[in-house]
Amino acid sequence: MGTMQRFSDIGELRQQLHHWRMAGERIVFVPTMGNLHRGHLRLVEQARDHGQRVVVSIFVNPMQFNDKDDFAAYPNTLVQDCAKLTEAGVDALFLPSVEVIYPDGYQQSSQVVVPGLSDILCGEHRPGHFIGVTTVVAKLFNIVLPDVALFGEKDFQQLMIIRRMMVDELYFPVEIVGVATARESDGLAMSSRNGYLNAEERQQAPLLYRVLEQAKSQLLLGSESSLVIETQAIQALQEGGFIPEYFSVRSRKDLSKAEGNAQGLVIVAAAWLGRARLIDNICLNSG
Ligand code: PAF
Repeated sequence: MGTMQRFSDIGELRQQLHHWRMAGERIVFVPTMGNLHRGHLRLVEQARDHGQRVVVSIFVNPMQFNDKDDFAAYPNTLVQDCAKLTEAGVDALFLPSVEVIYPDGYQQSSQVVVPGLSDILCGEHRPGHFIGVTTVVAKLFNIVLPDVALFGEKDFQQLMIIRRMMVDELYFPVEIVGVATARESDGLAMSSRNGYLNAEERQQAPLLYRVLEQAKSQLLLGSESSLVIETQAIQALQEGGFIPEYFSVRSRKDLSKAEGNAQGLVIVAAAWLGRARLIDNICLNSG
């Protein structure tokens, strides 16, 4: 295992990346906001399969937090994160400051706006969130110039926006790889936000995935309409102590509302449990 180099300066990082590229090595990139859990580490492990050099960034992006308190409370676990990334064999860690990414402040930043897909579901409930995500991902892609970048499927809408719009439409020359959601043994999707759950809420939290699984089997049976399934799911979540934002059967092509034919569908959900906003999804082609 080599040592992990750390960079907070764009020029120094680019110089190192240039050396690797000149040596014919492929650069694989995993952007994160830190507070790393096993889900992130799975991205890092899979990154190895796509190239010789793995670059991870940790940057808590102020522009994608529609709620200032949420940004301020975002956990910083840099010492543990570095230890995990070193052990995982990461080659370079990019740790830019807010000033490096947003020299004139993020309110003044040029923006990458992906209309339509960014305005629905999480975008509707977190106005401006996806503009923050696509803007920072565009900046990070232009800094790192990766051959491949990996994102978790838990953030299904984010992955779609990045893949379909930034790559297919804006022609960022990068291959995007989605990685299956890592789950706790009781089904709860791993997320930095799970740390906001108290002990009782942690017991209730796996209900979100159970309700998604239930909705999936109902859809596969084909006996109920999407609307009935969604209404029942929202009720089940409310009874389990959640405050749902949305629970919706969508097309995997464009996240439009979908009915009937189970092929190509995804069920997406977001719900509050105490202080934590949990999101999860389930696709209908697999099993
Ligand atoms: O998924 C995340 O952690 C963030 O949205 C990302 C992609 C690192 C952009 O800040």
